[in-house]
Amino acid sequence: MIPWGQAFGLPPGFGPARRADAAAARKGCPTQSDMPRNWEERYAQADSLDFTPSPLLVEVAEMTKPGRALDLASGHGRNASYLARLGWSVVAVDASRAAIQIVQGRSAAAQHSVEACVANLESAEFAIEPSGYDLICDFFYLQRNLFPQIRAGVRPGGIFVAEIHVRDDSAKDGPRSPGFVLEAGELRREFSAWKLLFYSEAVQPGNSRATARIIARRA
Ligand SMILES: C[S@@+](CC[C@H](N)C(=O)[O-])C[C@H]1O[C@@H](n2cnc3c(N)ncnc32)[C@H](O)[C@@H]1O
Repeated sequence: MIPWGQAFGLPPGFGPARRADAAAARKGCPTQSDMPRNWEERYAQADSLDFTPSPLLVEVAEMTKPGRALDLASGHGRNASYLARLGWSVVAVDASRAAIQIVQGRSAAAQHSVEACVANLESAEFAIEPSGYDLICDFFYLQRNLFPQIRAGVRPGGIFVAEIHVRDDSAKDGPRSPGFVLEAGELRREFSAWKLLFYSEAVQPGNSRATARIIARRA
């Protein structure tokens, strides 16, 4: 099985493979607390980072006028920077200090409006402000207990956009642990009270594993 990190183009040893090992050592506890250490190493290799925004986010940006956005687990800020370029006021949060330093450096150089915070979303270090955002983004980060906060954090009429790995029994590689992947239909169920503008569960071109993708509007 190829470790999860390699599915993102990371070298062996990065990403949640080590995290899963650590979790297993803790008798299956699904904590993600050792993940940031791995991502620190990844973001230290700044030259190899790709700043192309998510195509799904590009769709959203084309149909929405700029407002206030939150990019959860933003990483090095490919999506946050894209939104800021379009005039959004962006809050980017990630547990990796190296990633947030990249976001801060780029936004300062471009004089973009990005408030970038280092925070572990599994702790109380960062709380999503209720009705604080016109747009909340979640790309490739699964933390189930954040969904209620995300729903409360989007202003009425605002948008949630996400792409997260979903269980894919046909995939030859990647994580299978329920802690790391959505169940089929799970993301749609989380936003069943919202207007669904787009939903799919499929393997996207160029990827080896299925993702769930959603664009939903809060009523
Ligand atoms: C697969 S990367 C996705 C990055 C970004 N969303 C993107 O699509 O480019 C996962 C990100 O989650 C962050 N992360 C992992 N656990 C976290 C936690 N508990 N709190 C905040 N960020 C976390 C990692 O540092 C990493 O940047």
